Amino acid sequence: MTTDFTVAIDGPAAAGKGTISKAVAAKFGFAHLDTGLLYRAVGARVLGGGNAIEAAKTLQPEDLDRDDLRTAEVAQAASKVAVIAEVRAALVDFQRSFARRAGGAVLDGRDIGTVICPKAQVKLYVTASAEVRAKRRFLELTGKGEVTSLEEVLADVKARDDRDMNRAEAPMKPADDALTIDTSDLSIEQALETAISAVNARWTSA
Ligand code: DC
Repeated sequence: MTTDFTVAIDGPAAAGKGTISKAVAAKFGFAHLDTGLLYRAVGARVLGGGNAIEAAKTLQPEDLDRDDLRTAEVAQAASKVAVIAEVRAALVDFQRSFARRAGGAVLDGRDIGTVICPKAQVKLYVTASAEVRAKRRFLELTGKGEVTSLEEVLADVKARDDRDMNRAEAPMKPADDALTIDTSDLSIEQALETAISAVNARWTSA
């Protein structure tokens, strides 16, 4: 068995990456890094008046524990700082060393299979229609007490997709060798089953 085993899970917001990543990590005993939190932590610092590049260069693991990183405002700020090449460059080493940790790692984000871990043993691209994703995010945000509308969330999702897919640096896209899982019409159980069997096929032969 190798100790270096990386699962790369990419895809747009609210497609189910987080749920799948956590389930895969729990099932196989892998460590999990939600790389969106890195960009969110930088975005939150910018909203607080800081400089994006400076924030990325000085980011500490504790910054990922801030409890205000899951808001729609921080998500948009994250997507904006994620366009800056120097911000992305400053976050590469942390992600790559996490991916190499003994015992296996799952990283989810936008460019894990394409840029951060192009040699990952398993690459998944988890997606769903913008409408389905907006509805999921709307329920999640209103469940936490945020005041918003479905239209507003859909516009946010589309704006973020557009920025994440069309930036020059590490745009969001499936790696050539990624398995795409479209969760629009799948139950959580069906999506998890597909992801877990893809990981299992590689893990048992590792
Ligand atoms: O996964 P998330 O919604 O928490 O990500 C927030 C933003 O961070 C996303 O819109 C784009 C950026 N991001 C990125 O550019 N690359 C990653 N690997 C993860 C997130």
